[in-house]
Amino acid sequence: METKKRVIITEKIDEEGIKVLQEALEADVCFNISREELLEKIHEYDALVVRSVTKVDEELLSRATNLKIVGRAGNGVDNIDLGAATQRGIIVANTPESNTMSAAELTIGMLLAQSRNIPQANTFLKSGKWDRSPFQGVELYNKTLGIVGLGRIGSLIATRMAAFGMKVIAYDPYIADERFERFKVEKIERLEDLLRTADFITVHTPKTKETFGMIGEKEIEIMKDGVRIANVARGGIINEKALMEGLKSGKIASAGLDVHEKEPCYGNPLFELDNVIVTPHIGADTKEAQENVGITVAQQIVNALKGEIVPNA
Ligand code: MLT
Repeated sequence: METKKRVIITEKIDEEGIKVLQEALEADVCFNISREELLEKIHEYDALVVRSVTKVDEELLSRATNLKIVGRAGNGVDNIDLGAATQRGIIVANTPESNTMSAAELTIGMLLAQSRNIPQANTFLKSGKWDRSPFQGVELYNKTLGIVGLGRIGSLIATRMAAFGMKVIAYDPYIADERFERFKVEKIERLEDLLRTADFITVHTPKTKETFGMIGEKEIEIMKDGVRIANVARGGIINEKALMEGLKSGKIASAGLDVHEKEPCYGNPLFELDNVIVTPHIGADTKEAQENVGITVAQQIVNALKGEIVPNA
């Protein structure tokens, strides 16, 4: 009898995805496995399924002597050393389409929550106080939204926020003019010009050497006074220290952050500021996205181990 190929799943994915894996393979569900244990066991597996916490780096891959595929249940692959995987002939497959709507909707939630101080007013009233004056907000209508990165998520936000009556502008040097036209977004050639003009700014780029810290002290300085910023993409694209200074000085009115330079993130000084709304990287945490992501990544693993072609991230 042919022995089944083995997969290890190190972070929570949807039950339906696990079922797909269990039907075709020997699947080990090890959501809380320590780094040390994973390093010891990884040579036993043909496939590895991760989200964003497991670091699939050179050290891990060098021990993964039987590994054929890493499935990333999600979009960003910044926790995976793509070069080291490619060198060893290991496929890295992600699921870029599966959770974009959820990430876009959370970003819109961050924009709305900031414009009307919803979390702060909620905490205030629940603490037994009643006052409206500290929570006066601003309308989104007629404001300019600057999107940095007009990929899948950025473009979903563009069309939705245009329906709020926002003027939508975007900076993305990697996207063809036709895409700006298709989404009725004004193309801004230089990041500085977007930063100077936007009332609300949201970033939607992957985390790469080029984008890490792309918004720092210098960039914040040229922003409009009272700008509001959302980051549901990756921690560190906006430098946290510079952001902190901008928020403290009042240059930046508020920020909504789902992602953090270090994750898991505890005791970040940004969390102490009243004008900062934070969530623990929940951009993709909806029922729909997790079902899509879990099933898609599982099918990719099964197909790859059958020798079928799967798209490499
Ligand atoms: C993604 O890159 O797909 C999201 O950040 C969600 C996640 O990390 O799981």
